[in-house]
Amino acid sequence: MERLSDFVKTADWAKEKHVPVMDCPDSVQAGQAFTVSACVGKEVPHPNTTEHHIDWIALHFVPAGEKNVYEVGRFFLNAHGQAPTGPNEGPIHTDSSAVCNLKLQKSGTLFATSYCNIHGLWESAKQITVQ
Ligand SMILES: [Fe+2]
Repeated sequence: MERLSDFVKTADWAKEKHVPVMDCPDSVQAGQAFTVSACVGKEVPHPNTTEHHIDWIALHFVPAGEKNVYEVGRFFLNAHGQAPTGPNEGPIHTDSSAVCNLKLQKSGTLFATSYCNIHGLWESAKQITVQ
């Protein structure tokens, strides 16, 4: 049987425009807030038009040695130049990025997924050590 994970793509973010790139500390203090950003197209810009854009970015966390996945946040990017007068004539484009603050009690792995309306699901991962 096919699984959704069979279709989640990943690649070198420096060469592939769809891979979400997370920026956050490698090591944090337990319970101390820090900022995580996830950006699509950091090195190779992704289009942001009514016809082709990033719809959402999601963050998940899996504590080291555990099997449970925790959803951190889901960021919907809804403005891509659409307007009553036609595609790409609107006044707003949401950038293909998400930022949030969080606190961790355990080390683990953050996963970022992005969804392109044309090219599907992409993911990346980053380990964070809690001291
Ligand atoms: Fe795309």
